[in-house]
Amino acid sequence: MVWKNITLQLEGKSALITLNRPEVLNALNTVTLQELHEVCTGLDADRGVRVIIITGEGKAFAAGADISEMKHFTPDDAQRFSRLGHKTMDAIQNAGKPVIAAVNGYALGGGLELALACDIIIASEDALLGMPEVNLGIIQGFGGTQRLPRLVGKARAKELIFTGDPITARRAYEIGMVNSIVPPVELLPEAQGLAHTISEKGPAALRLVKRVIDGGYDEKLAGGCAMEIESFVESFATPDREEGMKAFLEKRKPVF
Ligand code: COA
Repeated sequence: MVWKNITLQLEGKSALITLNRPEVLNALNTVTLQELHEVCTGLDADRGVRVIIITGEGKAFAAGADISEMKHFTPDDAQRFSRLGHKTMDAIQNAGKPVIAAVNGYALGGGLELALACDIIIASEDALLGMPEVNLGIIQGFGGTQRLPRLVGKARAKELIFTGDPITARRAYEIGMVNSIVPPVELLPEAQGLAHTISEKGPAALRLVKRVIDGGYDEKLAGGCAMEIESFVESFATPDREEGMKAFLEKRKPVF
């Protein structure tokens, strides 16, 4: 499949999606969002792919939604665009396998919202992350108002969103927005190494535990724990559980 604004590389059990419009800092337009949605849905269904990495070509992960496209939007267009953005972010968040954002530079507005829809964010030391929408007189449209406070707390999210000022990767690490920061040349190897480690684990267990963590996060504790029981039980009906326990008792590495 040939994509216009993204590239896809498969290596072992990992898939690497690269946003590929470096001339506009990978600004997310309708075509890019459609392609991202399509590729993520396809990779989710591909049993050979265990982990997905998303990164950007050039000096940005993504510098936001495409302002040149949005400039001409009517409110109806804005609604279609926001719904497409949400559908795309949901496809990433609800994928039954871990998704890692490798943030290689600017992750602004929609670009940061894309990273926030991923399970783990690794950032290069020179990355800048922020929500500059208020500078354009608009608000977040791809889930940022909801995912950012859940990740860093309401007060920090409001400060970032109200000021529009970007923060450094180090600050993002300090407030728990990103999992780790690495020198730029180590970004992809770090993400690929993490993807490799995770890809050796039981895929059914990963699918179930991602669902429970994300689903339970918005529940009361008792509701989340009830979901955990259900998924714990479900994990016992998988071939992964059979292989995992058998391999342990036979003192060998499991092959999932
Ligand atoms: N949408 C559309 N085009 C964008 C863009 C966006 N979100 N972000 C950058 N671009 C384009 C620029 O217009 C420029 O195009 P040009 O070469 O045709 O003029 C090109 O990408 C390079 O960007 P430029 O601004 O020249 O790079 P810079 O290094 O000087 O600045 C940023 C980088 C990220 C600080 C700056 O591009 C910026 O502020 N972008 C907008 C960020 C934003 O508001 N995002 C939220 C959107 S909701």
